[in-house]
Amino acid sequence: MADEGCVDRGEIAFDPHDPRFVDDGVPFPMLARIRQEQPVLPLAEGAWYLSRYDDVVSALSDVETFRSDLSAITGVSTGLETIPSEQLYLSEIEEPRHKEMRQLFQAVVTPSRLRELEKALEHHCHQLIDAMLQAPSVDLHEQYAMAIPAFAMARLMGFGDDAIAHFMAWSWDGTLMQRPCSSTAPPGGPRSHVYFGEAVAVQRRLPVPTNPVIAVMIDAVIEGRRLSDAEIVTQLHFMIQAGVHTTRSLLVHLVNRLVQDAALWAQLQDDRSLVPLFVEESLRRDAPVQRTTRRCTRDVVLNGAVMRAGDCVEIGIGSANHDERLFADGDDFLLDRGNVRRHIAFGTGSHFCPGAGLARLEARIMVAALLDRLERLEPVEGAIYPPLPGSLGHQPIPARLVCRP
Ligand code: HEM
Repeated sequence: MADEGCVDRGEIAFDPHDPRFVDDGVPFPMLARIRQEQPVLPLAEGAWYLSRYDDVVSALSDVETFRSDLSAITGVSTGLETIPSEQLYLSEIEEPRHKEMRQLFQAVVTPSRLRELEKALEHHCHQLIDAMLQAPSVDLHEQYAMAIPAFAMARLMGFGDDAIAHFMAWSWDGTLMQRPCSSTAPPGGPRSHVYFGEAVAVQRRLPVPTNPVIAVMIDAVIEGRRLSDAEIVTQLHFMIQAGVHTTRSLLVHLVNRLVQDAALWAQLQDDRSLVPLFVEESLRRDAPVQRTTRRCTRDVVLNGAVMRAGDCVEIGIGSANHDERLFADGDDFLLDRGNVRRHIAFGTGSHFCPGAGLARLEARIMVAALLDRLERLEPVEGAIYPPLPGSLGHQPIPARLVCRP
């Protein structure tokens, strides 16, 4: 743990929720200053931002002290305690129940399921490229990067093609950030809950459930009892929230960089073994999940700062991935970092992302399909591109696809 933390409240004005970061890019120089001057930064009364790698890893690893709390980002301003237990997402459930529930998620993304999915994903990427080749220019965000995670999750979860369009729409319109008790949710509940509720009801009526994921959840006995329909729907929704939005962001970062960096494109064409490093460096430098939120369960002193029970702690995963104590020239995008795999874009500890293997698979297949099929990926003249640094919202990425001769 570092030593020079000082906590004069409000010395550096920083709001990690600032919506400008989505459009204008993450302010890397500001994060570097925070890491240097106030590594445990007070944001407002009872709220903190952790910016250094060691502090972030410590907090993520200590789930007894730092409890995961997604209430605020899902429009529940009254806190985790006011959320009905059946609406708690996997990561908000306390141990030992969390560990048991997590096994249901892990049962969905096994290595053998990923191997089965690989061919289907390749085929899907090539179909998307076929369709894009019909047009003089395309939007790689909507027509390519966004369509892949929705397809992957639909196939993984045993849903039909209608689900692909739904998953994309919910990623787009914010539905995925709602729970039935969210202030933003419609009276009948989020659209995804209605959809999954119907799917669970259909599976319940069958003598033997046919959907592989719902079947696992119907069969599960956690802490001596079966899950209710509402609990199953909450976890299906969370799977989509966790698996579509995030992977879309990774894939968008990758295509955005490929369009804007012709030298990188050529380097990857020359040496395909660099593709996994390209994906890892993107995860490190432009972490799709820039921060995650914890709530202190007790008073705790971290890096000189005294946090009180109940305080909200924003864990700066994106900042930790740039920490100069571990990653030299961390704001640069380099394919030859020896330690790139120490990034924590997928978190660490008992909440480590169970979908990391799938996200990596999607990314590698998506990039490989473009390299296989195209001579070049060209920017469209006059188009304005999202800034390379940062976590992207829904900005288009216009491109011209140039076929091999
Ligand atoms: C690039 C894509 C992805 C990124 C960057 C990402 C990132 C993360 C991070 C940082 C966490 C830990 C959050 C915390 O500790 O608060 C996490 C947890 C989680 N992720 Fe992912 N994720 C990605 C893709 C996926 C996919 C494809 C799935 C589903 C197949 C998935 C399912 C989950 C679940 C269920 C959790 C909660 C685990 C728990 O609390 O035990 N993620 N992810």
